[in-house]
Amino acid sequence: MSLRIDKLLANMGYGTRKEVKKLLKSGVVKVDDIIVKDPKTQVNPKEQVVTVWGEEVEYKEFIYLMMNKPPGVISATEDMVEETVVDLLEEEDRVFAPFPVGRLDKDTEGLLLLTNDGQLAHQLLSPKKHVPKTYFAVIDGEVTEEDVAAFRRGIVLDDGYETKPAELVILKAGLRSDVEVTITEGKFHQVKRMFQAVGKRVVYLKRIQMGPLSLDPSLEPGEYRELTEEEIDMLKQPQTY
Ligand code: URA
Repeated sequence: MSLRIDKLLANMGYGTRKEVKKLLKSGVVKVDDIIVKDPKTQVNPKEQVVTVWGEEVEYKEFIYLMMNKPPGVISATEDMVEETVVDLLEEEDRVFAPFPVGRLDKDTEGLLLLTNDGQLAHQLLSPKKHVPKTYFAVIDGEVTEEDVAAFRRGIVLDDGYETKPAELVILKAGLRSDVEVTITEGKFHQVKRMFQAVGKRVVYLKRIQMGPLSLDPSLEPGEYRELTEEEIDMLKQPQTY
């Protein structure tokens, strides 16, 4: 696999194509210890060593980010009005053009994966794969064992759709209840509509798990980090749920 040196450097965050051209012209870019000035030079980043100001450029094609999505931002790449999760990324990560894998509502918090690996995104989102997603939720109303049983059977939503069985765990029951709910689909506003169907309202929602991936508790809302090699391998392995 080879690509133009200007494209590689632009992809890696060394500036726009025009800025990169200047950088090349200034003679600070080397490929295998030889100064390269022509932006059209083809390089193979897997086999050749590219340096800028003597520092090695570590090339990667894909990026995998785990974000603790804060409330108030939308799960999109760009929007004319609203702030998006991609707006929260550093420029050096944004150059990879990652997109959110699935959506969380604007007011929902928690685990959101962003990547430019379309194949992995597809695998995680495919309805056929039944990837489980677990949410912590605060419910206005007392969640009961009947609700647990109803969720286990599947819930008929406001549009007549019957959900797949969902696991509901009551952490604290009261006028306000704390629960964890695991669903294997991703219908629009699904968790909120499931509770609505049993006469209750979700007042706080946070995703804590997606397939084998758990939200890193050290991430504050709005913070993100790259996935570890282990986490990436886990996600890519064919799962049986
Ligand atoms: N279910 C919802 O209702 N909202 C979300 O953001 C995710 C799941």
